[in-house]
Amino acid sequence: MGAFKEPHGGVLKDLYLDEAAAGQAKSAALELKSCDLNGRQLCDLELILNGAFSPLEGFNTQEEYARILDDMRLPSGLLWPIPVILDVDAGFAEKIGTGETIALRDPEGVLLATLEVQDIWTPDKAREAVAVFGTGDETHPGVDALMNRSGAVYLGGRLRGVEPRHHYDFKRFRESPADLRARFKRLDWRKVVAFHTRKPMHRAEQELTSRAARDCEANLLIHPVLGANGPGDADRFTRMRCYEHLLAHYPEQTTALSALNLASRLAGPREALWHGIVRKNYGCTHFIVGRDHAAPDPAPGKASYYAPEAAQELFAQHQEELDITMMPAQDMAYVEDRAQFMPLDEIPPGLTARRLSDEEIRRRLDAGLEIPEWYSYPELVAEIEKSNPPRHRQGFVVFFTGLSGAGKSTVANALMVKLLENGDRKVTLLDGDIVRKNLSSELGFSHEHRNLNILRIGFVATEIAKNGGIAICAPIAPYSATRRQVRDSVETVGGFVEVYVATPIAVCEARDRKGNYAKARAGLIKGYTGVDAPYEVPERAEVVIDTQDLSAELAAHRILVKLESLGYIR
Ligand code: PPS
Repeated sequence: MGAFKEPHGGVLKDLYLDEAAAGQAKSAALELKSCDLNGRQLCDLELILNGAFSPLEGFNTQEEYARILDDMRLPSGLLWPIPVILDVDAGFAEKIGTGETIALRDPEGVLLATLEVQDIWTPDKAREAVAVFGTGDETHPGVDALMNRSGAVYLGGRLRGVEPRHHYDFKRFRESPADLRARFKRLDWRKVVAFHTRKPMHRAEQELTSRAARDCEANLLIHPVLGANGPGDADRFTRMRCYEHLLAHYPEQTTALSALNLASRLAGPREALWHGIVRKNYGCTHFIVGRDHAAPDPAPGKASYYAPEAAQELFAQHQEELDITMMPAQDMAYVEDRAQFMPLDEIPPGLTARRLSDEEIRRRLDAGLEIPEWYSYPELVAEIEKSNPPRHRQGFVVFFTGLSGAGKSTVANALMVKLLENGDRKVTLLDGDIVRKNLSSELGFSHEHRNLNILRIGFVATEIAKNGGIAICAPIAPYSATRRQVRDSVETVGGFVEVYVATPIAVCEARDRKGNYAKARAGLIKGYTGVDAPYEVPERAEVVIDTQDLSAELAAHRILVKLESLGYIR
């Protein structure tokens, strides 16, 4: 078997059809129902098909899913801690029967694989959350994704790969388990310790990985995940450039870099085991497990989701069976008196340990402050500074919400003019009327249509912020869940400042510039916000204004002050 390490379950899977069979599958697929995969599903599919998830041969069946939840095993008894299922919406599931083959496509419609559907079932997601993530707390990003953004029905069954997903970026680092095993064999690397990361690496991580490799007398594989990012994570382009720079700081011929298209669930201890299994399939003999391995950052003011050593403990319990050796990573700190990094618990008393949290690094980048030389190498710092401009050069969104006639448009206009007057920023106003005329002209005011309208605004605003611009949005946006979705989307790329224009309904109604309230009261307009349709008051708006006793000028000024205090403008 390829290189030196047995894959999980003994056989390295390769589920791609040969050329002739793939050609037939493509013609046959014209008759099949199609499912377009999302980002996580595309990652999962790739790793099932190329054998990184060996011994899986498809998306988990119901029986496999139940066993995985109960005791982290496949029905064969083999360890498998994380369900890998295909979630779809109920409407799609209704159209399919068991035994049917469906086509799985990428967002551009390219046929990637076929799935022979063996099971269709509605999972108990709350139970899954507790089993896999150890918590039902929806502030956990993995639980949130499961409970709020995954399809209601799961499909399981055997996969046949038609063609690998085409990636345009970092091709030379995208290796299948067979590719990487071949590389190790060519280099005659018999012992390889893998380092999993989803963050940029700096001097502390370099020291930690070098120590691990020295301790087990192995070569080092830096194996970052390129799959879906969490909010606040550095983009994969920046990270890969950083890893490439860092490679030059290891002794020659000792270290390799390869990319893993894994969609992390951030499931802490269970995920650590899963990462180990995947690395074993890639031919690694050792795996570095950190404290807090694969754990999300805790929500503000909350405790961590897992005990810091929980992942290492669970790994230790199973490492013999897993047949990959854990190298537990300690937290490292810089000791100035020694001019080197050391594990925190080995630092002699009296010496000062220096560390900078991710949060502090982000704060410094946002404020345009210096990243010290002991923390990283200049070429890496230049990379992260390039992709994290200080806040006053980042894009952001000011999202007004409030009843019709509350004064949103007037204040939004005043704010736009002041921002333009102040400086060199590009500003786009997505006022309710403008949007309904240009983007949402076919939409009405049902719950569904309003949500669509707001999500479209959120999509455009996110694009604007992503490219460093300022978007000012001013719809009614009556539903909290939809506003939250827009906030989440924008916050992956820039700042989000919600302004609740809290002018009471009586005042809005007295203004009634368009006469719509009168019509609504007379029953001529149905489902009018505040009259016979709900408005859910925002609970965490950054600014609340009431235009009853505040001129548009002063209201805009208050928002500017807030933007300044948050660092978005100077
Ligand atoms: S939403 O809920 O965010 O999609 O609404 P929005 O796009 O901001 O559109 C609000 C304007 O449409 C007029 N209008 C209605 N509003 C609420 N409910 C119903 N049923 C309705 N029908 C028409 C309303 O007068 C708003 O205009 P502005 O200029 O904001 O007052």
